[in-house]
Amino acid sequence: MANILEKTNLSFQKLDAVSEAGVQTLFDELFRVADGELLDVGSTDELETFRVRWVGRNNSVKSRVQENWLKLAPAEAKKWVGSSFNICFRKLEENLNSKKATLQTSGAVGRIDLSLPGVTRPIGTRHLISQTYEELYRIFNSIGFSIVEGAEIETPYYNFEALNIPEHHPARDNMDTFYISNAPGYLLRTHTSPMQVRTMEKQKPPVRIVVPGKVYRRDNPDATHSFMFHQLEGLAVDTDITFCDFKGTIEYFAQQFFGPQTRVRLRPSYFPFTEPSAEFDASCHVCGGSGCRTCKYSGWIELFGAGMVDPAVYGFVDYDAKRLSGFAFGLGVDRLAMLKYGIDDLQQFFRNDTRFLRQFP
Ligand code: DAH
Repeated sequence: MANILEKTNLSFQKLDAVSEAGVQTLFDELFRVADGELLDVGSTDELETFRVRWVGRNNSVKSRVQENWLKLAPAEAKKWVGSSFNICFRKLEENLNSKKATLQTSGAVGRIDLSLPGVTRPIGTRHLISQTYEELYRIFNSIGFSIVEGAEIETPYYNFEALNIPEHHPARDNMDTFYISNAPGYLLRTHTSPMQVRTMEKQKPPVRIVVPGKVYRRDNPDATHSFMFHQLEGLAVDTDITFCDFKGTIEYFAQQFFGPQTRVRLRPSYFPFTEPSAEFDASCHVCGGSGCRTCKYSGWIELFGAGMVDPAVYGFVDYDAKRLSGFAFGLGVDRLAMLKYGIDDLQQFFRNDTRFLRQFP
């Protein structure tokens, strides 16, 4: 082996292989030596050393062969030397390249570091409205309420009449209803209260449900209004439910949702389907009641409407109004989320701006 490499320093005048066959044997031998060496190469670093030594630009075997054998070949032998030279080194470079490819693939596999952390791909977060719903489910499930869902398309009977809101009742005006023009007799529910009626129609007392869902009203979008928003309806009916149970339930909810120090208060109100009706306020969770921007310096935050179920509603569902009593409430989920997380623009919930959404992982 050393022999053939030494010979690359010699010119053809000093070599004995001037015949065509002799030249070919010479190059064959050279190739065998090179290829044998290539076989032993075990890393990309070694391969680079091999490349520089055999086919590199300066002082490689190739350049020596070119300088001595090719350039100094006798005129009559130049042709054979040239073609043998080309074949030999083209083949060698081909083998070198495929060796390089093999080393890169196997090298990469060999180099996997199992202690490295995995690739974390961004997977998004639950929308804050969904997160708020989940929190509400947790609270109401913990005191025995189950979840019932209903359709967003309703009839005036369930949305109004059976809730003691007869035609021409002024309460219908407040709701700015979307009627479905190509489906007469249908509307987009303006609240989740229709599910009170639908549940009581199907289920004998006792009833203890919460109803999540989207509701629709003809409102122009601004920081506190939207044509679609989210509610959670609540209904509890049994033989001996008192106003005290009602207040205790709401207080429990407020303390779970806003913190244990929260106090609640009731203000008289009016809803056709409750009697008496009330607005619930909670002590401000930001200032604790001393007055701040969030509570407009009143110390109280208006939470939602509620009341004892009006006996007239039982009449629509064949419940015995003399024997039964219960309470109902309707929470605005968007509003609760805004209060709890200090969001001042309702539209943020609907923009799908990931800069906003990402703040609530
Ligand atoms: N449905 C009412 C609304 O959307 C909210 C409401 C008030 C629901 C009092 C109730 C209730 O169940 O008792 O404005």
